[in-house]
Amino acid sequence: MPDSDEFVVTPYEVRGHIDYTRLRELFGTQELTPELLAKIHHITGGELHPLLSRGIYYSHRDLGPLLDGFANGKPFFLYSGRGPSGPLHTSHLVPFDLCQWLQKRLGVPMYIQITDDEKYWLRTGLTREETVKWGMENLYDLLALGFDPKRTHVFFDSKSIAALYPLAVRVARKIPYSTVKAVFGFEPSTNIGLVFYTALQTVPCFWPSWEEGRAIPCLIPCGIDQDPHFRVTRDIAEGLGYPKPALLHSKMIPGLLGENVMSTTGDRPENALFLNDPPEVVDRKVRNAFTGGRATVEEQRRLGATPEVCSVWALWRTRFAESEEKFEEVTAGCRSGTLLCGECKSQILERIHSFYRQHAHAREKVKDWAESTIVTEASKPL
Ligand code: TRP
Repeated sequence: MPDSDEFVVTPYEVRGHIDYTRLRELFGTQELTPELLAKIHHITGGELHPLLSRGIYYSHRDLGPLLDGFANGKPFFLYSGRGPSGPLHTSHLVPFDLCQWLQKRLGVPMYIQITDDEKYWLRTGLTREETVKWGMENLYDLLALGFDPKRTHVFFDSKSIAALYPLAVRVARKIPYSTVKAVFGFEPSTNIGLVFYTALQTVPCFWPSWEEGRAIPCLIPCGIDQDPHFRVTRDIAEGLGYPKPALLHSKMIPGLLGENVMSTTGDRPENALFLNDPPEVVDRKVRNAFTGGRATVEEQRRLGATPEVCSVWALWRTRFAESEEKFEEVTAGCRSGTLLCGECKSQILERIHSFYRQHAHAREKVKDWAESTIVTEASKPL
């Protein structure tokens, strides 16, 4: 197999040029079909989030029964999470944008997990103080997307451990070491924190059912790299008497430097737009971003450019095109050579700056109530 065909996708490593159809086959997930999108469109009152209509979400597990259940009066809850290893960048918002949109339209509860322990175990360069600090900073950013304070609950692992632990011990007893070794590719040198960790990522899937003593379905929008954790969860769910969580998987978003995959470590700051970047840094990063443009203006006018390889087009696609018309206008202008890269970047920068201003404002406001969303106790302590 030629090198370019090789890729690796696990929660702890994403590398190579990802063939998404192949990845779905390897993971054994289902395709997000037009029929399923039509069901979402229907239950949300005749709308589709751009991340759905533009193909960023592309795969799922058991979404159909969950949507049918909702249509028949059986509510579900949403769950997603963040490993706080540093500041958030715009691509980190992909799962939370969709969750916020679904929560707003369907009125469902949202559970957010902040895994300060996971990132401490994973990244030897980070101190406990740092992962906890980034956990709170990241939480402000996420809540500022517009989550409903009354319906949003946060498991901040180290602060919520007393609440998580009773279910975590039950989950951990069901997972053999050989399973996590095979699923995550652990080495003899892997620390034992990570070996246990998948039990903690599983707990929120079962939490509402456990608290309420009846089966409540769970939907997890996440990057497809997180699927391996939930394969483990789904394998053990029924043995513990809980429904298997349903999943909606997104593709990994390409970085600004034209690499296949967004840097996950934050060790290449030029590769992403961090939410704490000042305006002049945002300008510089976008101006230097890799595009699908041609070597000269003359060539681009004559031959057009290639949006699919362009990191700026990926920004339009995931967040900054405010309507389908705008998205199509940018895409068609790029392909035909009427929209040049400089002009395209000026247009998107206006939108990025305006998003940053609005976000900074919303972020200050959530600080009043963020702490109160953190779950610290279970009603069943054993
Ligand atoms: N492991 C995830 C990360 O490294 C964090 C996480 C916890 C998560 N629970 C989740 C992600 C549920 C998606 C869905 O970022």
